[in-house]
Amino acid sequence: MSALIIRRAQAADAAGINGVYNPFIRDSAATFETAAISEADRRRWLESLAQSPRHPVFVAEQRNGNICGFANAAAFDPRGGYATSIKTSVFVDPASQGQGVARRLYGALFGAIADADLHRAYALIVPPNPASVALHQSFGFEHISTLSEVGRKFGRFHDVMWFEKRL
Ligand SMILES: CC(C)(COP(=O)(O)OP(=O)(O)OC[C@H]1O[C@@H](n2cnc3c(N)ncnc32)[C@H](O)[C@@H]1OP(=O)(O)O)[C@@H](O)C(=O)NCCC(=O)NCCS
Repeated sequence: MSALIIRRAQAADAAGINGVYNPFIRDSAATFETAAISEADRRRWLESLAQSPRHPVFVAEQRNGNICGFANAAAFDPRGGYATSIKTSVFVDPASQGQGVARRLYGALFGAIADADLHRAYALIVPPNPASVALHQSFGFEHISTLSEVGRKFGRFHDVMWFEKRL
């Protein structure tokens, strides 16, 4: 994976990010989104975050230009009192998993927000997901709570584990 480039996402990465994320929407409970995201909506999302130092988006780009993963920090809640908290997530195409892509994406993401006046990061993990649990724990997240059957996807209820990182 030495040829992999980790860089800030641009609006032109909308299709590449969707190429990673939409299959997880379709096939996996790792995200509770249920409808594929259009390229136009993804582009608007990227443009809305372009000037947001607290909410960066990073992509992993292969030598051929293919996007094989992305990570982002999102607002925890739009209300102003929550401005110093974020939710982070990372998604890697199955063909590129187990090669350190998520580790590099999260390394870049947390490096970028180091001076962004943030205090807490949260990650929401739908169990079982040992890879995501291990990744987040290795980045200093601690399991603080599990919401039982808070979501429903593919006709069954799912728990959500909340992880917290002190920044
Ligand atoms: C979780 C996910 C992002 C990990 O991406 P990845 O690129 O395969 O992870 P990396 O290769 O960078 O591994 C980073 C760490 O994750 C853990 N890990 C990765 N794969 C693992 C596995 N199969 N089992 C247990 N731990 C695993 C390890 O701690 C690893 O660190 P190490 O290399 O020092 O052992 C990826 O599996 C994924 O996209 N899953 C589906 C979507 C998802 O669940 N996203 C997280 C939502 S909260």
